[in-house]
Amino acid sequence: MALLKIARMGHPVLRGVAGPVDDPTAAWVRGLVTDMIETMEDAGGTGIAAPQVHQPHRIVVFRVPEERLSDMPGDLAQDLTVLINPVVETIGAERALGWEGCLSVPGLRGVVPRHLRVRYRGTGLEGEEIEREVEGFHARVVQHECDHLDGILYPQRMTDHRLLVFLEELQRHPIDLAAFLAEKRAA
Ligand code: NI
Repeated sequence: MALLKIARMGHPVLRGVAGPVDDPTAAWVRGLVTDMIETMEDAGGTGIAAPQVHQPHRIVVFRVPEERLSDMPGDLAQDLTVLINPVVETIGAERALGWEGCLSVPGLRGVVPRHLRVRYRGTGLEGEEIEREVEGFHARVVQHECDHLDGILYPQRMTDHRLLVFLEELQRHPIDLAAFLAEKRAA
């Protein structure tokens, strides 16, 4: 087990397209995933993708904590999940705005539009197929992590960069997102 170095926005490994994993049950995959989990927990993240630790492979790890869920019926808490070669399919056209952070963009938070509902598939460490249909925050986490595999960081998904802020400032000067958007619509 080892803590891995986390690549920060600007490092080219975060802009590349990660390659598929031929054998999800290979020993090196298990070793890498163990280190990714340790690194994510040490840094206090909700998820991490292999390119964030300088490994350009299609592997993500995430959990969906109870306290972040919306009240949508498909927004389900999720224990630690390892997805190898994940595929995300959007369901419907509906999108929602929500706050995101990223271990590769330390200290910042941004409001990002994401598809409200997705179906995702991938392979687990035992070679088992995982398929889930989810909504809300769970869907957001999966879209964020899988974007890393295609070289996309959340600021690139943002539509209003006034909502890209330092967490420290956000805590000092909270933003009421609903009021902000209503004001914007009125302007
Ligand atoms: Ni991230």
